[in-house]
Amino acid sequence: MRDQIVAGNWKMNLSFEQALQLASNINTWVSENETKAKVIISPSSIYLQAIQEIVDDQFIQIAAQDVSVAEKGAYTGDISAEQLDSIGINTAIVGHSERRQYQQETDESIAKKLEQLFAKNITPILCIGENLEQRETNQHFEVVKSQVLNALTPQKTENLSKIVIAYEPVWAIGTGKTASPEQAQEIHAFIRQTLNNSFGEEIANATSILYGGSVNPSNAKELFSQPDIDGGLVGGASLNIEDFSQIIASF
Ligand code: G3P
Repeated sequence: MRDQIVAGNWKMNLSFEQALQLASNINTWVSENETKAKVIISPSSIYLQAIQEIVDDQFIQIAAQDVSVAEKGAYTGDISAEQLDSIGINTAIVGHSERRQYQQETDESIAKKLEQLFAKNITPILCIGENLEQRETNQHFEVVKSQVLNALTPQKTENLSKIVIAYEPVWAIGTGKTASPEQAQEIHAFIRQTLNNSFGEEIANATSILYGGSVNPSNAKELFSQPDIDGGLVGGASLNIEDFSQIIASF
């Protein structure tokens, strides 16, 4: 049985005090409620250690929002997998569409980031997804297939069982236009079949594939009930305990 996961991507939001308060509220809620899902929160990197120190890792895992392509050295502003590991961070988002867009990240640089994370036994949440033009011109299957294969093919086989994939259609991120459960299930099944064809049935069946893109308390239950949707990567709705706790409880 693969992990069911609800992860909150806080992006570049919240002051230090707001971040500590939200992390504490989520930790308290998870500790007081039976949850089927594994809960992950991903604050800005400057808050990682302080939040790591106030949450209980039996209830919540803390993820970085990115990692450097390099092991160490003259990369001003970057954060290495070794540095994340040194403060106990064991999960990291990689290849988010906003970084592909604003930071010109490519499948090649993302593959290098994955290698860095695997070297420190940090679990990647690999983000993939098509933009509106690619969806409207029916290119979305080819786009996500190439994103998956370009990122994973260079990896060592023993590492492929350690990855989480997040399918985030760019046209659904921050727009309120959530993919329908049928649309999401169709492409999640395609992603799983792509993993099966390229890396074998065991990897395909063990890989958690999350949906991201305007997940909220009113759509989470139907999305998470789909056979190939193993949870969500949540943006806006993860920034308040009311919505995020309802999404966690949607399993
Ligand atoms: O990484 C998750 C994020 O891109 C989804 O954002 O606000 O549409 O839930 P949002």
